Amino acid sequence: MKTFESITINNMTLKNRIVMAPMCMYEADNLGFVQPFHLVHYPTRAYGGVGLIITEATAVESRGRISSRDLGIWDDKHITGLTSLVESVHRAGAKIGIQLAHAGRKCNAFNEPLISPSAVLFNSDYTPPKEMSILDIKTVIDAFRNGAKRAKLIGYDLIEIHGAHGYLINQFLSPLTNYRDDEYGGSAENRRRFLNEIIDAIREVWEGPLCLRLSAEEYAEGGNHIEDTLNLIDTLKQQVDLLNISSGGVVPVKFDVYPGYQMELAKKIRQKGYLVLGGGLLTNPSEVEKYLNNESADLIFLGRILLKNPYFVLQAADEANRKDLIIKPYERGF
Ligand SMILES: Cc1cc2nc3c(=O)[nH]c(=O)nc-3n(C[C@H](O)[C@H](O)[C@H](O)COP(=O)(O)O)c2cc1C
Repeated sequence: MKTFESITINNMTLKNRIVMAPMCMYEADNLGFVQPFHLVHYPTRAYGGVGLIITEATAVESRGRISSRDLGIWDDKHITGLTSLVESVHRAGAKIGIQLAHAGRKCNAFNEPLISPSAVLFNSDYTPPKEMSILDIKTVIDAFRNGAKRAKLIGYDLIEIHGAHGYLINQFLSPLTNYRDDEYGGSAENRRRFLNEIIDAIREVWEGPLCLRLSAEEYAEGGNHIEDTLNLIDTLKQQVDLLNISSGGVVPVKFDVYPGYQMELAKKIRQKGYLVLGGGLLTNPSEVEKYLNNESADLIFLGRILLKNPYFVLQAADEANRKDLIIKPYERGF
């Protein structure tokens, strides 16, 4: 089965094609520090057979947190806890990636100022954001560079840039949230400048596997659609090793979701010659295998099903008669 085939991305070899999707757990303390919860939660999924774990959105600035209880990497003080986390996942046999994130106008952390390319509110749950000055832009780009530097020191196997779900990078990319008339707004080329400069900054300090998560479709009139995303990724070729394809979240609109609802988007992007990580509402091993076999994606992310069942991969291996993949201490359970 393709699900259990290894794959190499840049200098990282994964034992299988199943990736734990980044999911905020809201279990850090109010200053972004790793807690005992994280040191159980993530290694459990690693012992459960997941090849790569991408941990929850981790803020590169305190004002970049989605909530007050997000993990942070904006300070050297975060390094010790994150190092324990990385070591705990490595000991449990998986690779680990960090999702570097900035919430921008979707920051719900206590007492933090909101920033965004333009001073436009997401909805009434948030306070109005301030339009970013050029200095703010440079400061955030530096924060991504510093986050990547720390991630390297800590020993992460992969860095994922959170460019999806309507957070800060996505706010620059989308015409629905970026009304700037300087070099960071207006044309598609200007709107992607912030992302490009973040990628350049990270690449100054990180040679390893770099993944970019995008909302490939914004499901709103006047927003980015798959054609715009295909144009965007044409400009990224040399610097990004993997694209994690998601959708939505830029503006508060409802859209249809069903198992595999993002796989057509993933497939179109993969046809451009990228390694692609796809998923969304997948809950059983046959779906995972189907989307790998029909070449929609090279890797499949699983989110909520891994919250419900950390042993999803071991069970899939058992069902596929691959007892050799069950880790020794758990053999008698299968
Ligand atoms: C509790 C929860 C927290 C999430 N947090 C993040 C996050 O930090 N970063 C991110 O890119 N996506 C986040 N997502 C989206 C997931 O990564 C994933 O794309 C989504 O849940 C769809 O996959 P699923 O149907 O397999 O759960 C989150 C989803 C859930 C359910």
